[in-house]
Amino acid sequence: MISTQSILPKHYYDLLTFEQELSRVFEQNWIFVGFKEHLSKNNDFITITIGNTPVVVQNFNGQISALLNICSHRKATLQRDVRGNRPLRCPYHCWSYKSDGVLAGVPQNRTDFGLDEAAKKHLALKQFTVDICGELIFVRVAARGPSLIEFLGPYFSILQRVSTDFTEQVQEGSFLWNTNWKIACETVLEVYHVAGVHPETFANFAKAECEIENFNGHTTGNTPLQDATHKWWAGARKHLKTNQHSDFKEYNHFFIYPNLAIGLTNGSLMSLQTYDPIDPTHTKLNYQLKMISKPNDRVISEAVKTAINLNFTQFNHTILEEDRVIAESCQKNMPHCNVPGLLGKCEDRIRHFHNAWRLDLNELLEGL
Ligand code: FES
Ligand SMILES: [Fe+2]
Repeated sequence: MISTQSILPKHYYDLLTFEQELSRVFEQNWIFVGFKEHLSKNNDFITITIGNTPVVVQNFNGQISALLNICSHRKATLQRDVRGNRPLRCPYHCWSYKSDGVLAGVPQNRTDFGLDEAAKKHLALKQFTVDICGELIFVRVAARGPSLIEFLGPYFSILQRVSTDFTEQVQEGSFLWNTNWKIACETVLEVYHVAGVHPETFANFAKAECEIENFNGHTTGNTPLQDATHKWWAGARKHLKTNQHSDFKEYNHFFIYPNLAIGLTNGSLMSLQTYDPIDPTHTKLNYQLKMISKPNDRVISEAVKTAINLNFTQFNHTILEEDRVIAESCQKNMPHCNVPGLLGKCEDRIRHFHNAWRLDLNELLEGL
């Protein structure tokens, strides 16, 4: 037999498994939190929950810091929006913080608190490790662990390259899926499902073949595009006055363990997705569509741009919906089975994903 076993069905809905994943998977690994462009100005910030930890990533006069997003005074949330621009000052009683998390200001400190420098240091927000790869910002909640370069290995230079080559914002959004975060990730890790799930969309777009590479659970899947797709994109590039990427010309897909996926279409369009665990059976899927950067001097008509963008944003949405429906059906059925599923050769990227997950949860859970 050349197939391998998937993980046990209960790990897709069990609360204990989910709690272990938050601390052993999400709080230990480097997690993608956003783009450098969203933190380009002083006081720009991004908020995100990593595992059980609410984090604010903020620009303090050019320095990017990741801090606990909970005020030390009486525990209010410091920054409430997903993204924004505002000093790191608590909206409740206005305590403010510096880039290292140490208290900068406490209203009526002299009369009401009497905090000296040492006491202010003691009340500092917890600080996390932050690092940047190209245009992508990553945070590691765990105090110790590999550097981002070590963690990404050969994917560091790939991400550096694609994130700086695909920068023209087209669309962003998010969906709530009624699935475990792992089922959501698994939908993008194989092309075996294309004939069944996407007969009118992805099947006409790419061939159901895949060449796979793996590094510590991060994987690549290179899928050749259909001739008609090559033609459509050549036409689109002509209208959009962009050039094709020199290295990636098919459907080149990268998955960064545990929850970041980047797909490149014909060296022209990048789709970046993250899968945020909400609870054992709910996941927030966030997506960003970006075109390859355009040479500066080229002016294009907004109408042409809108028409072409509409075509592939709708295509992206239809495919996501097709994946959501099938993934939610698998999720619903998991509690009715206790025998693990099977992974064929074509589903090898899922095997690598599961192996990285098993390594993180080793010795903590029975029957992985
Ligand atoms: S809770 Fe933040 S200042 Fe009071
Ligand atoms: Fe799919």
